[in-house]
Amino acid sequence: MTLNQWQRRHLLSLADLAPWEYDIILQTSASFAEVLTRPTPKVPTLQGKVVALMFFESSTRTRNSFELAAKRLSADTLNFSPGTSALNKGETILDTAKTLLAMNTNLMVIRHAASGVPQQIAQECDRLGTNVGVINAGDGQHEHPTQALLDLFTLCQQLSGSSPQLQALQNRKVVIVGDILHSRVARSNIYSLRAAGADVHLAGPPTLVPRELEALGVHVHWELDPALKDADFVMALRLQTERMQQHFLPTLREYHREYGITRERLALCRPHVKLLHPGPVNRGVEVTSDLVDDPQISLVPHQVQNGVAVRMAVLYLLGTAKIT
Ligand code: CP
Repeated sequence: MTLNQWQRRHLLSLADLAPWEYDIILQTSASFAEVLTRPTPKVPTLQGKVVALMFFESSTRTRNSFELAAKRLSADTLNFSPGTSALNKGETILDTAKTLLAMNTNLMVIRHAASGVPQQIAQECDRLGTNVGVINAGDGQHEHPTQALLDLFTLCQQLSGSSPQLQALQNRKVVIVGDILHSRVARSNIYSLRAAGADVHLAGPPTLVPRELEALGVHVHWELDPALKDADFVMALRLQTERMQQHFLPTLREYHREYGITRERLALCRPHVKLLHPGPVNRGVEVTSDLVDDPQISLVPHQVQNGVAVRMAVLYLLGTAKIT
């Protein structure tokens, strides 16, 4: 399959992405990663296009990397801030989207605390007969596709260098630790890692890692140490402290004792194990602070850096797709 065969206008979920589509995203991201090393790290690919950054929920990494990605592709950006928008005067989200459509927006990047909002806006764009592409930048507890894609790129890069290949992850053991049940990052990662043929293990308290998740082709562990045995990669998830009020979790101290990633625990993994975290990190809770900053172990800075190239690839593929 080649880049010309890309047929998606929206990126809302990774649930039905085919291996050849992941490969195209990885190859395109690698090309843009090379562009970003040039003295002038910019290309005219999306010149004249408008990218609306519609973040109805807080974000540091996703919002800034999408904005930088759009600018590196020479697109114009519209920065929508809900706090200072007409949403405060009662305008609906769909009317907000239609307002931005009327300004000839070509791509909408949407984050919202409620699952399904990007899908709703994409459906409305299609119903109106527009060619606008919608990208889910994290919706509620549903999915965070570009986070999983940048994680995938980072993992494959570790295994196959500057030209990351999906097949490099085949049978590699990846352990995802934490609140899987409520994590949009975990859900998207499970889809992409399974598509790559990775051996995916989930670990956390039974309240947050239900056995039913095994239907997704993964292994469930309620004890961390057995899960970590011979792991190639460990991905710690941000602990959402509001889950404590909902009695899904014991105290943070107890959580760290049972499920926190420490240097001692990483000794159970393979010798060259690497640690990932989507951020923001609760240092000393999901993972000890020294590990986050250890360049021999932590891939966190690589994840953030790769986020720009991967989001350039997604904007490029959706923004230039010839849908037949
Ligand atoms: N990983 C992630 O989505 O981080 P932000 O909330 O800062 O965008």
